[in-house]
Order: sequence, then structure tokens, then C-alpha cells
Amino acid sequence: MNIKIPKDRGMDRTLSIFKDGYEFIQKRVQNHHLDVFETRVLGKKTALLSGEEGARLFYDRERMKRSGAMPSHILKSLFGEGGVQGLDGAVHEHRKLLFMNLMTPSRLHDLHTITTKLWKHTADNWVSKRKIVLFDETLLLLTRAGCEWAGIPLSDKEAPKRAKELNLLIEGASKVGPKYLSSVSARKHLEEWLMKMIENVRAGNQLAAEGRALHEIATHHDINGPPLQAKTAAVELLNIIRPLVAVSRYIVFGACAMQEHPESKIKISENEGYLENFIQEVRRFYPFFPFLAARAKNDFTWQGYSFKEGQLVMLDLYGTNHDPRLWESPDKFMPDRFINYVGSQYDLIPQGGGDHYKNHRCPGEWPTIEVMNASFKFLASGISYSFPKQDISYSLREIPSLPKSGFVMKNIRINK
Ligand code: HEM
Repeated sequence: MNIKIPKDRGMDRTLSIFKDGYEFIQKRVQNHHLDVFETRVLGKKTALLSGEEGARLFYDRERMKRSGAMPSHILKSLFGEGGVQGLDGAVHEHRKLLFMNLMTPSRLHDLHTITTKLWKHTADNWVSKRKIVLFDETLLLLTRAGCEWAGIPLSDKEAPKRAKELNLLIEGASKVGPKYLSSVSARKHLEEWLMKMIENVRAGNQLAAEGRALHEIATHHDINGPPLQAKTAAVELLNIIRPLVAVSRYIVFGACAMQEHPESKIKISENEGYLENFIQEVRRFYPFFPFLAARAKNDFTWQGYSFKEGQLVMLDLYGTNHDPRLWESPDKFMPDRFINYVGSQYDLIPQGGGDHYKNHRCPGEWPTIEVMNASFKFLASGISYSFPKQDISYSLREIPSLPKSGFVMKNIRINK
């Protein structure tokens, strides 16, 4: 059967990524009953994939690879060069195990305890303040939590500087001009800081506790034998603390959801099952990573579309999390949709899909959920606050997105 695959006619659509933001792929694929659409990005024919079937293809290791897929400006800012994101096959699996081994139940429990401790400590200082911006406070808190969890020493004096740099990696990657350059420069400073630390651990000049990211990464050997180069080790250590700090965006989105659905606060305080569903809905509903990139490994035809070896392929994360074929009323925030959710590895994909060990799916899903759990519990029942007039709308054209006010809180009191 000859199926005509829909395409963008004419011009290159790289600029549309900025214009359409999170909806770039969804806008093109929706209304068609297929999961693939052709456009032109950076002057080249690009296949856009969306939906559960699109995700399943994207994570087929026989047909897709990651090396050479990530644009170099993203590597120079957000991800760093030589990290796990760009590896394939056995080399990837070996490096990925390093991350997966950090996610033991006891280490995740530690992260929960550290996060709760820091919320209590931080909120004590809020009582004397007229108002606070939750996003700014959470950035600092999660920088401290991430470093403590990873075994990275961080003084009180140094914390604000590192929080700012880590946030620049996240914010600057999708920008052009000075903001992008600040992101590249923040990466340079952070890598230098951590390279020095890794060299000190290796030389026996700095203690590092076994089981924590600093120790495990400093002592990790590549599949071919040698220890990771210090720069690569720094990139991987940043692959732990940078995304942990990024969870701050989910915390702020979750606070907005509690504000807009006041009944959820009581349910979060009283019902662990509801809290779990609330967390899943925050991850599904709010924008974070818009899409991912891979390259076709060889020529093949799928759903009537001819993929060419080396062709750029993009998977729609935001659109798949809002696909009406998978989610009833996808644009409504409804935690209860997860009560009877069975799901697959390819439908709820805010942090990627497929298998954690074999694919590139985020190994940080558990720590993300742990931090959200501790934080939402604290915000729902640990404190009371008033919510002054402010703009908590967010834009789907801004990547990464965030509520405009950052969530201002006033008259904060600690609940007994
Ligand atoms: C990969 C999202 C938190 C570590 C990814 C990917 C996404 C993602 C979309 C790419 C998946 C793919 O390429 O197929 C997020 C979001 C987070 C988050 C939205 C929360 C806001 C974390 C945390 C950690 C982490 C807390 C570590 C503690 C990583 C690593 C990879 C990754 C190391 C690369 C995995 C690989 O290439 O095999 N994440 N992540 N992430 N994430 Fe996360």
C-alpha cells in the first residue's frame, strides 16, 4: 500500500522550533492518523515521530542510534561532551549501569531524608521574610540536596554561585546570544570545579564515600579498561546534580497545581496514593523536555515512510504526554487518571521511554519522584502561606518553560 506521509512544504523549519516551542511536533503530526511527519531542520530532511508507536520506533536500537544526533550547541551547554547521552550499544549499557547502580532503595531514601531536612531548614528562614520566590529558593535547596546526595562538598558561601551556574546550563541551552554564552561559560566553570575534585579523590587527597556519585564516577572504568578521563567524569557528575536542580521546575509547577486545585493540598497531606498520582500528573501535564533527537541507523520503511541512513529523527515528548489517543482530556490536570493506569514504556515519557538499562531512558526518574514527594508533602502540610496577586501563567514557546512569577509566597508560617 502506498501511504502519502504528510510533510512541511518548502522552507526549512528550524526557526519554527523557536516559534512553536513545545508544540512544534504536535502541531505537525496531530490531525493525521500516522505517527510520522517529514520536515526540514538545519537544512536536512527530518522525520518527526509522536505517540506511543512513534516512541516505540525511536527506542528501537536496531533502527536508531544517538551518536551524532545531538546538536553541538546543546552538548557545549546543557549536556557536555563525552557523556552517556551520546553513546550507543555495549559502551552505552556499561556507562548506564554506573547511573543505575546509584538508584538503590536506600540511596533514594537518603535523598528523601536530605530533601525534607533542607526544606525544614530553609523554611525556618522564610518566617522573618516579607516574601519569597519559590523557584529561587528551590534552585538553591536542590543544589545543596544534589551535592550532599552525590557526596560533593559544598560550603554555604559557594552554594548560591553553583546554583546559578547549574540553572544557566538548563536555561541557556535553548537560547542564542549572551544567554547561550553564559551557559557555555557556566559549564566550563562547573567542569573545572568537578575535575579538580575527581583528581583529588583519585590521588587520595579527598575522601569520597562509597556508593555516592562522586566516588562511583571517580572510580568508574570505561568498558575498554581505563578510568574515565577527568573531564568525562566531571560531565557525568554534572549529569547527576544538574538534572536534580532542574526538578525545581516541577516543584514550582506542582505548587501552581496545588494553588489552582486547592482540594489537592489536603489530599496530598492525607493520602500517599493520591500524592503519587499527583506527581505523575505534574510530570505528564507540565512542559519540560520538548523532544529528543536520534539518527536512523540504516535505510528502512515504517508506516509507509522511508527512513534514510543517518537521517535526523525527533521524538515528541510533550505531545506524546498530551496525545488524545493515550490520555482522556489531555489538557486537563487530573491526578486521578493514574488510579487505574497500567501504562507502557512508551506513553508517559516526560523523562524518555523504553528500558532504563538498554535505552537512554532517564535513570533519574526515581530521584525526581523522591524529591517531588518530599517537596510536595512539605509545601502541602509543613507550612502555611498566602499567595499574593501574581502571574503564574507559563508559555509553551519558552523552552524550558516556567510560571512567570516563579511562585511568590507571603506570610509564611511553620505548621506545628
Ligand atoms: C536522560 C528528563 C531528572 C539523569 C534524560 C532524558 C530526558 C530526561 C528526557 C533523555 C532520555 C532519552 O534520551 O531517551 C529529565 C527530567 C528530569 C530529569 C524532565 C526532572 C526534572 C534527572 C535526574 C537525574 C537524571 C534527577 C540524575 C540524578 C539523567 C541521565 C540521563 C538522563 C544521566 C542520560 C541517560 C542516557 O543517556 O542513557 N532525562 N530528567 N535526570 N537523565 Fe534525566
